[in-house]
Amino acid sequence: MTGTPRLSPRRTTPCGSGGYLALSVPEELGGLGATMRQVLYAQAELARHDGATGLASAMHQYLTLMQGFRRRKGAPDAEGVLRRVAAEGIVIATSGGSDWLWPTTTAVAVDGGFRVSGRKTFCSQSPAATVVATSAVLGDEVLHFSAPTTLGRKLAVLGRELPVVFDQRMGAPLVLRHKDVSAALRDTGTFGTQFYGMGPMAASMIAHDGAEHTRQRRIHNRFFSPGVSRRYAERIVPIAVRTFGSLKGDRAELVEDAIARYPMQVFLDLLGIPDEVGDQGLAWVRTIVSWLGSPMEEALAAPGMQAYQELSDYTRTLVEAELTDPKDNLLGEIIRAHLDEDQFSLEACVVAVVGLILGGFETTIQMVTATISSLLLNPDALEQVRADRSLIEPAIDEAFRWANPSAGLYRLVLKEVEIAGTPIAAGSMAYFCIAAAHYDEEAFPDPARCSTGVPGCGLILARR
Ligand code: HEM
Repeated sequence: MTGTPRLSPRRTTPCGSGGYLALSVPEELGGLGATMRQVLYAQAELARHDGATGLASAMHQYLTLMQGFRRRKGAPDAEGVLRRVAAEGIVIATSGGSDWLWPTTTAVAVDGGFRVSGRKTFCSQSPAATVVATSAVLGDEVLHFSAPTTLGRKLAVLGRELPVVFDQRMGAPLVLRHKDVSAALRDTGTFGTQFYGMGPMAASMIAHDGAEHTRQRRIHNRFFSPGVSRRYAERIVPIAVRTFGSLKGDRAELVEDAIARYPMQVFLDLLGIPDEVGDQGLAWVRTIVSWLGSPMEEALAAPGMQAYQELSDYTRTLVEAELTDPKDNLLGEIIRAHLDEDQFSLEACVVAVVGLILGGFETTIQMVTATISSLLLNPDALEQVRADRSLIEPAIDEAFRWANPSAGLYRLVLKEVEIAGTPIAAGSMAYFCIAAAHYDEEAFPDPARCSTGVPGCGLILARR
C-alpha cells in the first residue's frame, strides 16, 4: 500500500452486493470455495490497486473466514450464516478490537432472552453491513451474538408481506407501512398517548389530548413564540461555536466530546441552571426516557419514577427561586406564560419545564448525531449542503428519515380498529414503527439513498 489509505464505508458496499465476500464460502453452500491462501492473494491484489478497499473489505472478509473455521469445528449455526453470505450477500461487521480490549457492553438475563446495553465502535464503519457480530459481558461469561444493523430496511421489507406483525417480546403489534403509520399518528381520536401519564407524569402535556392538550399547547406557544425563539437562538449560537469550534484537526470523538454535551449546555444556559447539575441531569433524563420508551417493561418503571421525582424536585427549587423575579430567559418566559393563565399553578410550571428537558435532551443528541453522520457517510449530500445553505433543513429532515433516530412510537388503541386487515382491540397498545416507514418503497422510491432533494420523512410527529 502506498500513501495513507482513507477508510471509506462506501468501498465495502460493492463487496457485499457483488458477491466478493462469498469468496471463502464453500462451494456446496453456494460460495466460491476459495482457500485461506487464495483469499489472501485476492486481498493482496485488491490492496495493490486500492489500499482502502483492501483494508475495509478485510474487516468483513475475516468474519466470513471465521464462520468457515467455526463450521469445521462443528458449530451448528455457522452453515446458515455462510449460506446467507453467498445467497443474500449479507455483510458481517464486528466491534472486534474495541470490545476485546475494553469490554463495556453488559447483558442481563430477562424473560425470553437478554437485555444488552453498551456502545459499539464498528471496525469498518460500513453502513453496508447487515449484521453485527459482537459480544457482551454476562457476569463471569462473555456472550457472543449477532444483531441486525439495518433495522428499518429489514422491517420495511417484512412490511411488504406483513404490514402488521405481532412482537412477542414487546407484547404489541408492530405497524410497518408508511401509510398506516402516518394515518395513525394523525388519528388522535383512535390512537392516544394517555399511557405517558404513568405515575407522576399524569399532568404532562403529552399524556393529554383534546381540550387539555390544546390549552397546554397554547401556553407552550407563548414561550416558544417566534419573537422569543429568536432571542433564545442568539444565546445558543455562542454555545454551538464554543462546543463545536473547539474541535481541531481531522479526528474528533464527536458524540462524547461535543454532541452529547451540547443540548445540556443549551438547557443549562436557557433555564439558568448551575453547571454542576449537568451529569446528574443527563442520568435522570436517560432513566426516565428509557422507561417512557418501553412503557410495558416493568423493570424500568420504578427507577424511571424515582428519577422523575428527583428531576421534578430539583426543577421545583429552580422555579420557586425564579418566581419572585422571572428573568429574560426560557425559565422566565415559562413562568410569565403560566402567570398569564387564569389560575397560576407552580406545579404546572414544573411539569412544563420537566417536559421540555425530557423532550429535548436525548432527541437532540440523536438528531445531531444522525445529521452529521448522514452527511459524512454521503459526501455528495455534504457537498450540496456546503454549497447551498438553504439545503440545511431538507438535510436534517432527510437525516431523520435515513438514519431514523426514532425506531417508533407506542400508541394506546382507544377504540377497536383494523390496520391493513389486522383487527386491534380497544385498550391494547400498538407500536408504530417509524424506522420501517422511513424505508417503505411505496413512500420513498429509493429509500437506501440519502439525498437532500427529497421532501422529507412525511410523518407528522407533532400533535396539534
Ligand atoms: C431535535 C430532535 C427532536 C426529535 C426527533 C423529537 C421527537 C419528538 C417526537 C417523535 C414526539 C412525539 C412523541 C409522541 O407523540 O409519542 C415529540 C414530542 C415532544 N417533544 Fe420533541 N423531538 C425533538 C426535539 C425536542 C426539543 C428540543 C424539545 C424541547 C425543547 C422537545 C419537546 C417535546 C415535547 C414537549 C413534546 C410533546 C408534544 C405534545 O404533547 O404535543 N422536542 N418529540
